Amino acid sequence: MPSRDLFPSDWLVTGAYRDTRLGVIKSGKESEVHLVARIGSDRTTLLAEKRFKARDRRSFQNDWTYRGVWGGGTRRESRAMKKNTRFGHEAAQARWISNEWDSLVRLHEAGVTVPPPVELLDDGYLMAFVGDGERAAPRLSEVDLAPAVAQRVWDELLDELAVLVSIDRVHGDLSAFNILWWRERAVLIDFSQTVEIVTHPAAHDLLTRDITSLARYFQRRGVEVAIDRVLGGIGADVHRFTRQLGDVRVGGRRAPERWRD
Ligand SMILES: Nc1ncnc2c1ncn2[C@@H]1O[C@H](COP(=O)(O)OP(=O)(O)OP(=O)(O)O)[C@@H](O)[C@H]1O
Ligand SMILES: [Mg+2]
Repeated sequence: MPSRDLFPSDWLVTGAYRDTRLGVIKSGKESEVHLVARIGSDRTTLLAEKRFKARDRRSFQNDWTYRGVWGGGTRRESRAMKKNTRFGHEAAQARWISNEWDSLVRLHEAGVTVPPPVELLDDGYLMAFVGDGERAAPRLSEVDLAPAVAQRVWDELLDELAVLVSIDRVHGDLSAFNILWWRERAVLIDFSQTVEIVTHPAAHDLLTRDITSLARYFQRRGVEVAIDRVLGGIGADVHRFTRQLGDVRVGGRRAPERWRD
């Protein structure tokens, strides 16, 4: 499957180990990604630890798009989230992290090229570091692919998106900023906004947005893209999106009825 040759099944240190933080790879608005060395008895592997900043310091412009739509959690938590209490913030934070972690695990199991997940933590999670002892993988946005390579990578990404659709997932924040470029391969990261096709009312709009943002990068490099045909090509038949509501606009001001209270 796609990510096997980038991350062989025995890539992770097993047995007794200790973890040492080596520094911050990237500090963003909503998270910090640290480089961690996992030192075992006979070798060391590099991990990336994504840690989320405190909920009330984060800015989710599209928060309404996601809040309360994820499954899990108790009714008390859901009530507290609606009322914006401190407990509610903590519950929302935990759900946010576990949604990202669960999505990473599901995608990895399905064979999508992602950093293999390692461990869920209280404020984030550990995964494989994409890079080597000398450098972290650049984001695709920082790399200028030659037209022939761009075409090959676009085709491969469509195959990856087809796998996502087959397991009922939409990335939700896909663009050349959330793809790493390593050993001539595209590695998908950042599943903080990943949603389920069947349960999320904006899934279809999010998928269209994902494809449009990604296509922009590839179109600039000479790849011809017909967005409408892409949706059909990856199996995103409109009938899969069973519970779509007509009035949802991603990034717009209008929230659907059931999220307004
Ligand atoms: N597994 C990884 N290996 C190497 N680098 C990584 C890994 N995961 C994330 N990074 C680096 O950290 C950056 C931020 O990660 P991510 O996109 O998941 O978080 P984010 O909250 O969206 O951050 P930002 O606000 O900066 O976009 C990535 O663009 C990448 O440079
Ligand atoms: Mg990101």
